[in-house]
Amino acid sequence: MNKLTSVKFLNESFPKTIDVLNSSPVYDAQIKEEKVNLIKKLLKEKDAKIIAHYYTHADVQEVAELTGGNVSDSLEMAKFGANQSSKMLIVAGVRFMGETAKILNPEKKVLMPTLKAECSLDLNCPANDLLEFRKKYPDRQLVVYANTSADVKAMADWVVTSSIAVKLIEYLNKQKIKIIWAPDKHLGGYLNDKTNANMKLWNASCIVHEEFKASSLLKLIKENKDAAVLVHPESPKEVIKLADIVGSTSQLISACKNLPNKKMIVATDNRIFYKMQKAAPTKILIEAPTGGRGATCISCAHCPWMAMNNLDNLIETLVEEKNEIIINEDVRKKAFISTNKMIEFAKTL
Ligand code: 13P
Ligand code: SF4
Repeated sequence: MNKLTSVKFLNESFPKTIDVLNSSPVYDAQIKEEKVNLIKKLLKEKDAKIIAHYYTHADVQEVAELTGGNVSDSLEMAKFGANQSSKMLIVAGVRFMGETAKILNPEKKVLMPTLKAECSLDLNCPANDLLEFRKKYPDRQLVVYANTSADVKAMADWVVTSSIAVKLIEYLNKQKIKIIWAPDKHLGGYLNDKTNANMKLWNASCIVHEEFKASSLLKLIKENKDAAVLVHPESPKEVIKLADIVGSTSQLISACKNLPNKKMIVATDNRIFYKMQKAAPTKILIEAPTGGRGATCISCAHCPWMAMNNLDNLIETLVEEKNEIIINEDVRKKAFISTNKMIEFAKTL
């Protein structure tokens, strides 16, 4: 059972407590136990494993952990899927994560609790438009973030996730390879600053991380001078500038555990607090402020698509074997090349 049920906003500007971890279906303990037991039984019957992202509901992360599945960042999710002998993978996250699993594991049935879970980066980078952009720079290789469709991965030279993006761009830059980066302009800008790669950037962003605001974060830092600031690189440049650590979700969890600071200000989806608090039970986790809180914000430090995964649609998916990821085989084969290059590159680090 998850003991962390609420997260306090410690800064004066937002002196409220919200039920972060239980904001989608809250089950009575006995009902939840029944659902978890059913999922365990179904996973065995179907020879399936759950692969969940840190931004999904704590219930989903918990059941993945309890059943020998995986909860991790997008690179580790891809690696875990590729190392499984099970016949079926249930990917609880957003669509590109399910597609990555299918690209790497064509022989496995890959299902998702919902196929409606999108990603603003993927949605704002249609393959046809990217193809036109690419034509403008024929001397450049195309490196795409994993948060893209199979069609986009199929036309890319490389796929990469945030956890190894700096290393990959450094590696390519050393070989004087010129690059087009898509789709996240903030991550791309951060990579340009870190590596001097001078990549041409596609113009899209994550609706969740876009909400973090540097001015209110600075105020919060001043109120908590002893806190370390952990920032996901999908955040705006001015927010990244205030970070002690910039990294993927797994890297932020490690930093929370390993840094000596008692308090952590965290600029990423607040569902990460479930695993972060488990990894570092004595630390005080403070949410970085978003611009839209209390207003008309549709994200507010929480990915609305990741939130679509829950125990009920996990059960339905397993029972009916529905929401299967299907990718045209020509596209998949091409996407495999760029995606597998990422997996192989990660092994060299
Ligand atoms: P990570 O690979 O760091 O988990 O990031 C995935 C993502 O979508 C963050 O918004
Ligand atoms: Fe996409 Fe942002 Fe959601 Fe991550 S948090 S899946 S980048 S919309």
